[in-house]
Amino acid sequence: MEKGQLLYEGKAKRLYATDKQGILWVEYKDSATAFNGEKKEEITGKGILNNKITSLIFTKLQEAGIASHFVKQLSDHEQLVQSVSIIPLEVVVRNITAGSMAKRLGIEEGVAISRPVVEFYLKDDELGDPLITDDHVDMLKLATAEEVAELKQKAREINQVLIGFFKEIGVDLVDFKIEFGRDSNGQILLADEISPDTCRLWDMETKQKLDKDVFRRNLGNLTEAYELILTRLGGQHS
Ligand code: C5P
Repeated sequence: MEKGQLLYEGKAKRLYATDKQGILWVEYKDSATAFNGEKKEEITGKGILNNKITSLIFTKLQEAGIASHFVKQLSDHEQLVQSVSIIPLEVVVRNITAGSMAKRLGIEEGVAISRPVVEFYLKDDELGDPLITDDHVDMLKLATAEEVAELKQKAREINQVLIGFFKEIGVDLVDFKIEFGRDSNGQILLADEISPDTCRLWDMETKQKLDKDVFRRNLGNLTEAYELILTRLGGQHS
């Protein structure tokens, strides 16, 4: 497989065409960003860790019957994915109160939520990715009412599977963000990445934060936290 032209460069990844129809080449970068790009740093090794962790998680999800864009891990920092048309929504699922929801609703962090909360945020850097409702999704013609129901259902299913994976390695899945895309047949597939950049992961015993909050809140060494997640998931860091 040949790597083709650069199609898109985001904050954490570069996307290239390939010589195979419908297949894209993803390169994970070492950049860390937070607060809509206001806090920025290069962290050597972060791209490799996120590529390895995402590849492991998407493989496990596929084994659990969750369809996604993931094809295979190519190298330490690269993977192949199916080309999909991304639905410009960040779908967030929350199991424990934290982050923007705790702040918005004036509630303390760390309280278990009995029925996981699913939220939609509009993917729009200029607007700061605002929280939107199902009706806004419909009004903006981002997805039909049936698709909104499907996105929520899939998000809840993925949550249940992920809770199980992380429980096995002694980690609480506090919350996470996922993205979906449509393939050429209009089928909705899980896309993008699932890594400590996109999840809140707390050690069950010590409550140590093993995710991007380490960077956002200056809590210590980010690569050490991500390496811990990778090795507990059964991966090897270089
Ligand atoms: O900041 P907030 O509490 O809304 O984040 C919820 C979850 O979504 C966190 O796990 C966070 O890492 C993830 N997230 C993300 N990308 C964003 C916003 C949030 O991965 N742009």
